[in-house]
Amino acid sequence: MKTLMFSTQSYERPVFEQAASQFGQEIVFQKSRLDITTTRLAAGYNAVCAFVNDDLSTPVLEALSALDISVVALRCAGFNQVNLETAHQLGIKVVRVPAYSPESVAEYTLAMILTMNRKIHKAWNRVREGNFNLNGLLGFNLHGKTVGLIGMGQIGQATANILNGFGMKVLAFDPGMSDEQLKDAGVESVALSDLYRRSDIVSLHCPLNKATKHIINAEALACMKPGAMLINTSRGALIDTEAVTQSLKSGHLGYLGIDVYEQEGDLFFRDLSEEVIQDDVFQRLLTFPNVVVTGHQGFFTHEALESIAITTLNNINELEKNGYCENEVGKEKMV
Ligand code: NAI
Repeated sequence: MKTLMFSTQSYERPVFEQAASQFGQEIVFQKSRLDITTTRLAAGYNAVCAFVNDDLSTPVLEALSALDISVVALRCAGFNQVNLETAHQLGIKVVRVPAYSPESVAEYTLAMILTMNRKIHKAWNRVREGNFNLNGLLGFNLHGKTVGLIGMGQIGQATANILNGFGMKVLAFDPGMSDEQLKDAGVESVALSDLYRRSDIVSLHCPLNKATKHIINAEALACMKPGAMLINTSRGALIDTEAVTQSLKSGHLGYLGIDVYEQEGDLFFRDLSEEVIQDDVFQRLLTFPNVVVTGHQGFFTHEALESIAITTLNNINELEKNGYCENEVGKEKMV
């Protein structure tokens, strides 16, 4: 199969080249993001390989189908960017990388918690300027505190394991898991309202779908403890950014750490340092001293990148050889 890989970054190329040669697959790299203006680049290919911020809405899928593209190989776990109904109607198979390294994101979640709590980002700047004053750098012990995880799949479980190691009380809400399963995973199963009420730190590890879009809204924030920390390493639209901004302004939300942002498609994975960023909601977030934003790098480890490339090429290879792949995305309707 001949695959065109959209949104290719320089760090991906050698890893995907290696995986493609391992499977005897042909892959061509394209820096452009996939959207309605770039679909024509896929002429002459059988498959496209896409990432989190590529556009796979109905018009794009229709344009790809008209070019005889029969496979969309997502090199990520989430598939909220794809209109699955349209893909199925058009007979386009969508495959993904359901798990590559849950530890990569779980460890990153801890990096965000510790950075914000112990103000490493501020200390780094301060020390470089010869300022060794500790004012404003006061943190709190994680040991003995309560953390609430929303979503206890692979990443949630890996995060829970680490947090248990810190001596934290770990609460979890996951409608897809029984109380027994959550207990076996070392966490206490609670209702969402209890999780908000009891947690010092709330961390999101659920997929983005109709039920979870803006799960963190004004009502949820009001239920949280004053001074609570909120972490999102899953998908930006889980959070209503305006509501979070209001909560930060009022001083109710104590800390916000996000690796994902609802409108990140216009920003992330690009160098915009010479440009004026037009997104005022995003820019406002950056002004808070108790907010840390990173550009969707939770997955970004050597181990995860290699695993993503091998699974993606294996998915394409299986579809070509057997017409079937166990990582084909189901028919769930996502937003
Ligand atoms: P997973 O599929 O193993 O687990 C998701 C869990 O969420 C499941 O147990 C499911 O029952 C639960 N869930 C579904 N609806 C829920 C709801 N309404 N409330 C609470 N829980 C709910 O997924 P995995 O691998 O743990 O990934 C989680 C999310 O992390 C992905 O959907 C993706 O959006 C994000 N992610 C972010 C990355 C990054 O670089 N920042 C990298 C990889 C994934």
